[in-house]
Amino acid sequence: MNTLDAIKTRRSIRRFADKAVKKQDIEEIIAAAAYAPSWKNTQTAGYIVICDAAKKDVIEKTMLNAHNAEIVHTAPVLVAMISKRGICGYNADGSFTTKKGEGWQYFDAGIACQTFCLAAHEKGLGTVIMGLYDEDKLPQFLGVKEDEQMTALIALGYPGTHPSAPARKDMDELARFL
Ligand SMILES: Cc1cc2nc3c(=O)[nH]c(=O)nc-3n(C[C@H](O)[C@H](O)[C@H](O)COP(=O)(O)O)c2cc1C
Repeated sequence: MNTLDAIKTRRSIRRFADKAVKKQDIEEIIAAAAYAPSWKNTQTAGYIVICDAAKKDVIEKTMLNAHNAEIVHTAPVLVAMISKRGICGYNADGSFTTKKGEGWQYFDAGIACQTFCLAAHEKGLGTVIMGLYDEDKLPQFLGVKEDEQMTALIALGYPGTHPSAPARKDMDELARFL
């Protein structure tokens, strides 16, 4: 798959096939996502991979809204994106480097997240990024540390559906050429 095809054909998958995902594939996807660019190559993005069905069940039943719980019900794997705090966008003395403050941490997390999703897509795996979850309970349940921030939850598995792309904006709206 070439890069443009990968970018255009990746879709958010909200129903998954009943097929296990190999640990080696997950590791290869994470290794590929590690090549995402990051602030001064700080590589603050990390991953907590949940394959255990009982843990997944607790998350589905107690930490998600109905829409995302339905997605997680069929997903064989969940991946929590985490970022190390206080590094990306910061100077050595702990002050912010730019006016965007800790926004750079989320910027880097987003790039890593999309790189993860594209690498999964290359392997025939589907993903959906979920921003809605219990932000108190889930990080605690997963053992996210004090100096870490959970940035998103990704459902991962073989697609059980092949949705078409939601509409995108026209070039006139997207870009201004000066
Ligand atoms: C930061 C972020 C949070 C999102 N949260 C959710 C979510 O909680 N539940 C969900 O079903 N989709 C979620 N999505 C997926 C978007 O709805 C989806 O990317 C968008 O509709 C475009 O569809 P596509 O990914 O198939 O191109 C999220 C996407 C992003 C980038």
